[in-house]
Amino acid sequence: MRSLLFVPGTRPDRITKALASGADAVCIDLEDAVAPDDKAPAREMVMQALAQPREPATRLGFRINPVRTANGLADLAAYGESNVAADFVMIPKAAHPVELEIVAGALEGPDRPHLWPIIESAKGLSRAYAIAAAPYVQGLLFGGADFAADLGTGMEWEPLFHARGSLAAAAAAAGVELLDVPHLDVNDDEGLAASTRRARAIGFTGRACIHPRQIAGVNAAFTPSEAEIEQARQVLAAFRQSQGGAALLDGKLIELPVIRAAERTLAAAGLKE
Ligand code: GLV
Ligand code: MG
Repeated sequence: MRSLLFVPGTRPDRITKALASGADAVCIDLEDAVAPDDKAPAREMVMQALAQPREPATRLGFRINPVRTANGLADLAAYGESNVAADFVMIPKAAHPVELEIVAGALEGPDRPHLWPIIESAKGLSRAYAIAAAPYVQGLLFGGADFAADLGTGMEWEPLFHARGSLAAAAAAAGVELLDVPHLDVNDDEGLAASTRRARAIGFTGRACIHPRQIAGVNAAFTPSEAEIEQARQVLAAFRQSQGGAALLDGKLIELPVIRAAERTLAAAGLKE
């Protein structure tokens, strides 16, 4: 998924609009967007929302409270007791793969949702490889706001650089997706575009959003351009012509890593060679 739009669990009225926003996925939030006194009614509303018929084009999931809290366990129990099917469940403050085992066990069934742990603490980062490789994990989200708070830093690029790079490697090692933290200034289109370009360049495959107006920019950033697709095709054609040996394209050496990158570009564009 290139873009995932968060909707507060207290605002089910926004879900229909979110599903039509162009986002690849919509995540209804039971965690930080919901005040402690509102957790129980929000949980009920989320289960009702998940029970509504919907188009399969946009994936719909929800973010539970941390598994180590009573609210997190209540969220899982409510899901288990309702006859609903989410496409994915986001697990905040993930710090150990055993948390994913607990969630996977609680969600067991023929339509078990994909798991999306959120890495947002130094402890979580230290176990990111094991968390990413846990069964049923489809991707990771970098919770940059909580991570910066854990480190006692701001959310500038530099203090979060090491975490982003490490998560890109952990996600690649496990073969799962990686979403970046939302850009928190919803009116800053330029900042959104620039930081999303950087995230893609360092290995992220998508980005979370907190407002529908962020979706188009994020989707565009993670969709290969015509020029990139054309370049990838030329690389593969040159390689084919060289019959497995090294090839040159525009004076540059094409070897297997370049081929892999070209194949990844076509796959991201939904194309085959
Ligand atoms: C998301 O949950 C974050 O903390 O950035
Ligand atoms: Mg967070």
